[in-house]
Amino acid sequence: MIVSGFDLRLRPVHRYVTVEDYRRAARARLPNFVWAYLDGGAEDLVTLRENRTGFSAWSLRSRVLTGKGKPDLSTTVVGKDIKFPVMLAPTGYTGLAHWEGELSAARAAEAAGTRVVLSTVSSWSIEEIAEATTDDQCFQLYPREGDLTTRLMNRAWQAGYRTLFVTVDVPAVGLREGERRMGMSMPPSLTPSRMLNIACHPLWASRVLRHKRISGRNLVDTGRLRDAVESLAIQTRHVVQSALSWDDFAWMRDQWKGRIYIKGILDPADADKAVSLGADGVVVSNHGGRQLEYAVSSIAALPDVVAAVGSRAEVILDSGIRRGTDVIKALALGAKAVLIGRPYIYGLAVEGQLGVERVLEIFRSEIERTLLLMGVGSVRELDRSWLIPRAGRDEDSDNPSTLFDQAVRPHYRSG
Ligand SMILES: Cc1cc2nc3c(=O)[nH]c(=O)nc-3n(C[C@H](O)[C@H](O)[C@H](O)COP(=O)(O)O)c2cc1C
Repeated sequence: MIVSGFDLRLRPVHRYVTVEDYRRAARARLPNFVWAYLDGGAEDLVTLRENRTGFSAWSLRSRVLTGKGKPDLSTTVVGKDIKFPVMLAPTGYTGLAHWEGELSAARAAEAAGTRVVLSTVSSWSIEEIAEATTDDQCFQLYPREGDLTTRLMNRAWQAGYRTLFVTVDVPAVGLREGERRMGMSMPPSLTPSRMLNIACHPLWASRVLRHKRISGRNLVDTGRLRDAVESLAIQTRHVVQSALSWDDFAWMRDQWKGRIYIKGILDPADADKAVSLGADGVVVSNHGGRQLEYAVSSIAALPDVVAAVGSRAEVILDSGIRRGTDVIKALALGAKAVLIGRPYIYGLAVEGQLGVERVLEIFRSEIERTLLLMGVGSVRELDRSWLIPRAGRDEDSDNPSTLFDQAVRPHYRSG
């Protein structure tokens, strides 16, 4: 109905406008120990913060009156045509955020025309995700020669996965002190105040109890607490290995007939080695600031990696992407696409599949609008000439981590 110039048709009302809105809403819905696991980072959170502030080192160039119109966001990466250059990162035990976990994530990715990378320790199995979607998804594994790895690779291949991401930045689990303070372990270490905190989240608790999606379902068959404990033990025994070497990666390259990407690269020499051993691409990543504290931010590491391997292999970036402008800066510095981890988990925690769809749509529309404002006709046009170093920037006033400190720090007090 049009009433004196106003269009009164009903449209869906979205309460959450940015990824940060979803983050705040997710925090309110989850118990402290789950939040500490999902949102936390290593030690003093320096790398976690620099993953955000790193993006403010660049301004965007803008050209006007280009006549280009609506930009084309589509690209081809990991052998797949995707509608915009954002994929979902592998995240373990995602069922803790919302029982629908990777199932909703994969469906949302498919609806949005992109892909998910399924974690080894996902709350839904390789086969469940393959059955729930029609696109071929990607699977993430750790580089370890042995039966378990062979079995998982075979299962993934049988189920139709053709792209493997091999995560190499976990020779030890990063020191995530927030998790320790909150008693995040399997089973969770409970004190009266922690139990009270869980009781204050009855919807979350009832869903966890009913749907039992808290174990690594590629490693064990059920979600009973006993199996959740067992899946973590298997993960600790087989996945986290201190003495991994390039031989392990070369062995996996040999075993896997499809495309293989190495995830967790920050050094150009490592990128070069991986590509010389047959990697189709590298993911520049510091695991979202969850592993090595004082690791360089992913956006700062990107240019050297691109210089080393960009002409021979695809470079993807993750860690700290929260805005369409971040995606554009990563692409302008040579990345083919980005992965998002926590942002999709926030959406999932708040609204299940709809929330993941909304987060993806926020990225898509922010990228589209930014390209229009810059005068860029396609993501493929982006290169370093679209970036201008930001001179004299005020680290504090434009530091998104100021927000982080206000919103998150208080939750890391002992619980
Ligand atoms: C809760 C959580 C669990 C994760 N689990 C895995 C995993 O199982 N395998 C893996 O390769 N990376 C894992 N990651 C790292 C992500 O794949 C990705 O590198 C990181 O989340 C990117 O940073 P962002 O969260 O700032 O987007 C995990 C990240 C989070 C937040």
